[in-house]
Amino acid sequence: MPHDFMPGLDGVPAATSSISDVDGQRGVLEYRGINIETLCAQSSFLETSYLLLFGRLPTRPELDRWTSDITHHRRIKFRINDLLKCLPETGHPMDALQAAVAALGMFYPGRQVKDAENNYWSAVRLIAKLPTIVAAWARLRHGNDPIPPQDDLEFSENFLYMLTEQTPHPLWKDIFDDCLILHAEHTMNASTFTGLVTASTLADPYTVVASSIGALKGPLHGGANEEVIQMLREIGSPERARAYVEHKLAGKQKLMGFGHRVYKVKDPRATILQGLCERLFTACGPSPLYAIAVEVERTADDLLRGKGLYPNVDFYSGIIYDQMHIDTDLYTPLFAMARVSGWLAHWLEQLRGNKLFRPDQIYSGEHNRPYTPLTQR
Ligand code: ACO
Repeated sequence: MPHDFMPGLDGVPAATSSISDVDGQRGVLEYRGINIETLCAQSSFLETSYLLLFGRLPTRPELDRWTSDITHHRRIKFRINDLLKCLPETGHPMDALQAAVAALGMFYPGRQVKDAENNYWSAVRLIAKLPTIVAAWARLRHGNDPIPPQDDLEFSENFLYMLTEQTPHPLWKDIFDDCLILHAEHTMNASTFTGLVTASTLADPYTVVASSIGALKGPLHGGANEEVIQMLREIGSPERARAYVEHKLAGKQKLMGFGHRVYKVKDPRATILQGLCERLFTACGPSPLYAIAVEVERTADDLLRGKGLYPNVDFYSGIIYDQMHIDTDLYTPLFAMARVSGWLAHWLEQLRGNKLFRPDQIYSGEHNRPYTPLTQR
């Protein structure tokens, strides 16, 4: 039966899902029916990851067990550190993360994905170990030893500690945890879809997550957060923002951190992240990058409003990480550390009633071409 071809599968449903929902006209994002504003105000990243994976908020004993299981699986085997040491220190952290996550699966046999108990522990390991891998790579590439996780530190606090060996300011910890909540899940985006395709082959979850990490890396998806910061640094001061934006748009170039396939208004995550910037900079002093970003948004609002292009999740997140002295090329790995919860929730959902992804194509080539021997070409 002939079908209309939709480039980028725009508007084509790839799954039925109860994990999250976006209303792109009103700018609403819900995880399991709860809006992200409420989750940022009242929940934690670990509680939110439980909500995403298991479909409801945990009771106190359930949350305690989940937190304890994650906390006690943060360590990585020394061979994973050895593997990271073998990689070129000039390489991108997303590639190191992808390699380490793919290798992680080799250490955990019994990869039968029909076993619920096994799947629980795979999810625990992946959520627990991604931050340890990211922090280990961040240190190893500068010739420093990795800092082991500390069981008495909360999830976000522990990550920031593993980067710097210093317990972070409580405000940083809270704001970072909100950033993880905001990046944890987002319906059928490119990396989630990539993971679903891999999951549908009944590949193990480490392979599923490694494939999603690959898709997240690109600058049209998670990689945009890094490019935004480079753009803001290039602009250099708020006064230069308008000329820069006008020049970019006149040259038909894209403004990184703007636009979204689904949102036709400002991405609600960008609005919350901007609020987090205000909180952070009120407490820690003004940020030059934030002042430039506000000016870029104002100019873009004048010039792009007619096109329905507004800041997305990647526009304000890097400014927060920059204030926390986190290397720019770690921003996308931070995204992956959070999004692994959503990827795993979709993996478990896909396994219930799995059907192998095998889409159709519209063939546009020739048929019955003669084979010309090499000597006659
Ligand atoms: N700056 C300027 N113009 C833009 C932008 C932008 N950021 N985004 C889209 N447009 C324009 C396009 O040039 C195109 O214009 P035209 O119709 O005159 O040719 C039109 O808007 C449609 O753009 P598409 O790229 O075809 O739309 P799509 O729905 O595929 O875009 C995307 C979504 C890829 C996110 C796009 O907006 C983009 O490239 N943004 C910049 C990269 C970015 O910030 N990515 C992060 C997205 S959020 C995430 O993945 C976590």
